[in-house]
Amino acid sequence: MLWDSYGWYSLRAWLWLLFDVITSRLIQLKPVEQRILNDAVVVITGANSGIGKETARLFVKSGAKVILACRNSTLGYQVKEEFCAKNKALEAKIWVLPLDLQSTASIRAFVEQWKSLQLPLDYLILNAGVLGVPLSYTEDHVEMHFGVNHLGHFMLTLLLMENLIQTKHSRVVIVSSLTYLLGSLRLDDINYKNRRYRSFEAYASSKLCNLLFMRELCKRYKSDHLSIVAVHPGDVHTQVARHFGKWIYYLYDKVASVFLRSPEQGALSVYAAAVDPYLSSFSGIFTMNVDQLVPLAANATHDASSKYLWKKSLSLISFHPNEVEMLRSLRILDEDEYLQCLANCSREES
Ligand SMILES: *[C@@H]1O[C@H](CO)[C@@H](O)[C@H](O)[C@H]1NC(C)=O
Ligand SMILES: *[C@@H]1O[C@H](CO)[C@@H](O)[C@H](O)[C@H]1NC(C)=O
Ligand SMILES: *[C@@H]1O[C@H](CO)[C@@H](O)[C@H](O)[C@H]1NC(C)=O
Repeated sequence: MLWDSYGWYSLRAWLWLLFDVITSRLIQLKPVEQRILNDAVVVITGANSGIGKETARLFVKSGAKVILACRNSTLGYQVKEEFCAKNKALEAKIWVLPLDLQSTASIRAFVEQWKSLQLPLDYLILNAGVLGVPLSYTEDHVEMHFGVNHLGHFMLTLLLMENLIQTKHSRVVIVSSLTYLLGSLRLDDINYKNRRYRSFEAYASSKLCNLLFMRELCKRYKSDHLSIVAVHPGDVHTQVARHFGKWIYYLYDKVASVFLRSPEQGALSVYAAAVDPYLSSFSGIFTMNVDQLVPLAANATHDASSKYLWKKSLSLISFHPNEVEMLRSLRILDEDEYLQCLANCSREES
């Protein structure tokens, strides 16, 4: 079991998670005030189902311009159609752009298409994620949970930094999870060459990476104009568990769903993390149940770990020279990282 290796710490984490699951539905969520966000622009990854779709719905209702970043654009267009069914005028305010976070090429293509829209970027919602997939790798040969949930979003955020910074009071919302408590940072063996693969642990670790990424980005980019927050949407009944075995999924579907939140309820916390005026004065925080601040455990606030993760993530991505220059000019890379990334670009090209 997971807790053999971590003992009391892990047992406490399991108990906390269990408590969180059982109380998911019982807790009365504070009603979220629908804000009027005319012309604010929001990009949501994984917007074609579950929490991403419901978060998109809340933003559409608020009058925002919404970019649905979906791996499958057919599904993305179905969602757009659903949103516009009663009000055709909305069509001009919703875009569907393909984004597959397991592919560097797709992330780059997404960013290019996005830039061609020439919009500001007020909210970037990093919601897409995989959970419980069997050991598999992204196009860039990185384990899937780490690759999609962390690394893909890492690259996407860096490439959009310019736009985020140029927009006043912009905000990045990272959808993480309390399960980060059971994660570990084993960057020496991302691809599980020398240890047993457990999909849940891989998921939990990717959620820990989300929080460490938030920490490092906050440290590197201090500004009143950009804040970065993470949110635990609660234990939500979505299709994300479909990868677990058949009977586990059956149990999950029939039994646990009694306790779990609906995607609509989960989306409330994500939406609030983006627009709640009370929360919008914070950066580097972790929220849940709409307006609750959750203290982060030591594993997620460890400076050496967040720096290590940052450097490792940079080394796994082959940036283009113009991207490296952009990141340097924004002072997101230090001089050493700049030179190394640049050296790695030219090696890629030759
Ligand atoms: C996208 O979703 C549609 C509708 O479910 C499906 O028919 C199609 O095969 C999917 N495309 C990809 C590339 O997965
Ligand atoms: C997380 O932090 C706790 C307390 O500092 C420590 O005991 C535990 O080993 C850490 N877990 C992992 C997986 O790093
Ligand atoms: C550059 O590539 C080398 C070899 O793959 C790697 O060890 C190093 O960390 C990379 N550096 C950066 C900043 O990408």
